[in-house]
Amino acid sequence: MPTSPSPTTSSSSSTDDLQHILRVDAVSDATWDALRHTAVQHRHDGTLHAGAASGSSLGLVFMNPSLRTRTSMEGAAAHLGARHTTLVPGNGSWALEWELGAVMDGEAAEHVREAIGVLSRYHDALGVRVFASGTDYGADAQDTLIRTVAEHATVPVINLESAWAHPCQGLADAALLTERYGDALADKTFVLSWAPHPKPLPMAVPNTALRTAARCGMDVTVARPDTHALDPGVMAEAEALAETQGGSVSATSDQAAAAEGADVVYAKSWGGPLVYENPKAESEARAARSDWRITADLMARTRNGAFLHCLPVRRNVVVDDAVLDGPHAAHLDQAEYRLHAQKALLQYVWSL
Ligand code: CP
Repeated sequence: MPTSPSPTTSSSSSTDDLQHILRVDAVSDATWDALRHTAVQHRHDGTLHAGAASGSSLGLVFMNPSLRTRTSMEGAAAHLGARHTTLVPGNGSWALEWELGAVMDGEAAEHVREAIGVLSRYHDALGVRVFASGTDYGADAQDTLIRTVAEHATVPVINLESAWAHPCQGLADAALLTERYGDALADKTFVLSWAPHPKPLPMAVPNTALRTAARCGMDVTVARPDTHALDPGVMAEAEALAETQGGSVSATSDQAAAAEGADVVYAKSWGGPLVYENPKAESEARAARSDWRITADLMARTRNGAFLHCLPVRRNVVVDDAVLDGPHAAHLDQAEYRLHAQKALLQYVWSL
């Protein structure tokens, strides 16, 4: 099985003075800490930094659907006084070609090189969502598509979820955990639990949740069936990150044991590397694991643990109504934090 690239700055840029936000580690530890604390301040002061980026302009490109990311990025830009334009290629703007050297005699009327080049002339930052191919493991693990965007941009690019990373979600999650646990955050236990789903979902969110919790210095357990282990390179990277922060990362196929005494259960479905190697085997393995659904009984094992999910979530497939509507639920606070985190992030990007 191919593995992900070794850790990089993830800030590959077409010009040296550009800082793209492609992963949670695109910024230094000091900046990361400042951003998550600023996000908490934004939650408690709805006027904080209002209009601070007046005159700035944000271009948003969604190659894939979104509810939270689109709405919260538009809202964050408006709060800071910036204008924004949102494009959905193929639906109101030209369908894009991504392949270099392509003979463009098909549906796509515009190449990503021109699209990103032009949008860079109109805006001071770009936010782009482009999901995994689901078929080319090497390209997805290298995050080739979002890196292509960064390569052709002449303004900072914010990753709004790519094949391998979702840094805006990661920052929002870190801010929520910071508010919830304060200085005790590093003493908390965080379970990233695989959950059932009718489709083999990509790995951007689990990769990012793992990196985020590790960066917060938490003791992290990835609970997943043996068939659905995360990429070994991502696990190794998270282990190294946790070590520098005084935390730990481990994996188990015993979901109930992992939940015992946990402070956070972060549920997420993912197809994992097996999707690329043997889609039929992955589909069968996933279908056989409906008992990994997050239930009230599972949450009762935790230490008054918070239930988190990036959303959207399929009720009574991924997680029971009793959890989403019960005392452990923190997923709506988590979604709210997207807005606050992105206010902080946009202001940071525009202050560079
Ligand atoms: N969590 C998240 O990114 O939600 P959307 O896909 O709705 O943007």
